[in-house]
Amino acid sequence: MAGDVLLEARGLTKRFPGVLANDSVDLLLHRGEILGLLGENGAGKSTLVKMLFGIHQPDEGDIYFKGQAVTNDGPGEAIARGMSMVHQHFQLVPPLTVAENIVLGNEPISRGFFNKRAAEKRVREISEQYGLTVEPTDVVGDLPVGIQQRVEILKALYRGAEMLILDEPTAVLTPQETDELLVILRQLAADGVGIIFITHKLREVLAVTDRVTVLRQGKGVGTAETANSTSASLAELMVGRSVVLRVEKDEAAPAEPVLIVNDLHVRDDRRQLVVEGATLQVRAGEILGVAGVEGNGQRELVEAITGIRPIDTGSAVVDGTPVGSKPRAVRELGVAYIPEDREKDGLVGGYSIADNLVLATYYEEPFASRGVRDFDAVAQQAEELVEQFDVRTPSINTPVQSLSGGNKQKVIVARELSKENRLVVASQPTRGVDVGSIEFIHNQLITARDAGAAVLLVSAELDEIFGLADRIAVIYEGRIVAELDPTTTTREEVGLFMAGGG
Ligand SMILES: Nc1ncnc2c1ncn2[C@@H]1O[C@H](COP(=O)(O)OP(=O)(O)O)[C@@H](O)[C@H]1O
Ligand SMILES: [Mg+2]
Repeated sequence: MAGDVLLEARGLTKRFPGVLANDSVDLLLHRGEILGLLGENGAGKSTLVKMLFGIHQPDEGDIYFKGQAVTNDGPGEAIARGMSMVHQHFQLVPPLTVAENIVLGNEPISRGFFNKRAAEKRVREISEQYGLTVEPTDVVGDLPVGIQQRVEILKALYRGAEMLILDEPTAVLTPQETDELLVILRQLAADGVGIIFITHKLREVLAVTDRVTVLRQGKGVGTAETANSTSASLAELMVGRSVVLRVEKDEAAPAEPVLIVNDLHVRDDRRQLVVEGATLQVRAGEILGVAGVEGNGQRELVEAITGIRPIDTGSAVVDGTPVGSKPRAVRELGVAYIPEDREKDGLVGGYSIADNLVLATYYEEPFASRGVRDFDAVAQQAEELVEQFDVRTPSINTPVQSLSGGNKQKVIVARELSKENRLVVASQPTRGVDVGSIEFIHNQLITARDAGAAVLLVSAELDEIFGLADRIAVIYEGRIVAELDPTTTTREEVGLFMAGGG
């Protein structure tokens, strides 16, 4: 299977102001091999491959490609050597066809003109050779994300890539598209391409890679044969301590409905209807997990329920009170909100941890009386919550913006879940959060449920949905298209509904 060494990196170091993003990292990739590059958010994975691909220049260290020391003064040079990178945000031109995109920059020319026929023929050939089915005449902007990604890969192959770097390629895919991509990667490897596959999903590493290199805080902490690895062993390498991957929870004891959403219609910022008749209920003491590919209206659904975004038609009712468009009034119904974009909606970066913890309650007892703030009460509450919610910080006066993603999220979770809640709305609550903090946040959501709150969990991560939800609702194009029991349904079935099938 694996052949000669294709790429070797020794001692790669990259410093950004105040951050040692890569600290003397070694990497080895053979021809025909899929190497997983695993690590938590901020571990340095993207920085490492950007150095290989010439986007960043290493401060120290050497790169050898096909036995020769190389420096890439930019992606153009890397591509010319036979390296290629599929970015998470595709670099395709939407109005152009598949074939036009693939040959862009290297167009076949006949008699001084772009030969469209020749381009389509060549694209058909490569597409058949690697089993990457596309229709060369389709307009790229009309295609689903999974197919657009194929076009990116074909573009790399067209340019003669011997090495392919994929940076978190599955983040934007449905489970089915992910499975298809993994099959394609195996085919490419069998054809001799060396592949660096970045992900933070252990399942994918175990499913497709030959070896895996783990980064933690900028350092290479180990390389393992995948066949000798388990999710527990890899998670431990990633985090530096053993972690519980499965959430412990008792069976739910659902009681009365708390949230009733009926035929809800909501518009996005461009005034387009993106929630188009969503209907769901969440009862006290249960977690309803809303699964869906991002961009199917879940953001607007959540914003409407929390009063941030106006409802067009239909209703959302909490304990009998219709939700209006005043977030503070919604909060006072006993609604907690863990937003998707914590930097934008959840925290004020320049404020201290203590002030962020009272962001919505600073005007209430005991933090203020008769309009005068009581700083001792604020500080005391902050000390308690920082301890209880395991926020790792030098002090409660530290500005929240200097915390890691996981600790920022814990500040929000502490603020929202430390009060008594009837309804907890959690949107992508562990996105960009380290594995250790994920475990903690999941346990807090279960605790809220067991204390009797209704929990609405919106997540694009099926592992999270299956780990936490007592019932699963699938959202597709602004509607709830299925309600499923996680104990009897499969990931594939959920995935099918997520993709609009089923
Ligand atoms: N262009 C940049 N400027 C400053 N800091 C950066 C830059 N790119 C990445 N970093 C920092 O380097 C560290 C590693 O980031 P990154 O390589 O993106 O991690 P990963 O891809 O594993 O999530 C992080 O602390 C990140 O904030
Ligand atoms: Mg990255």
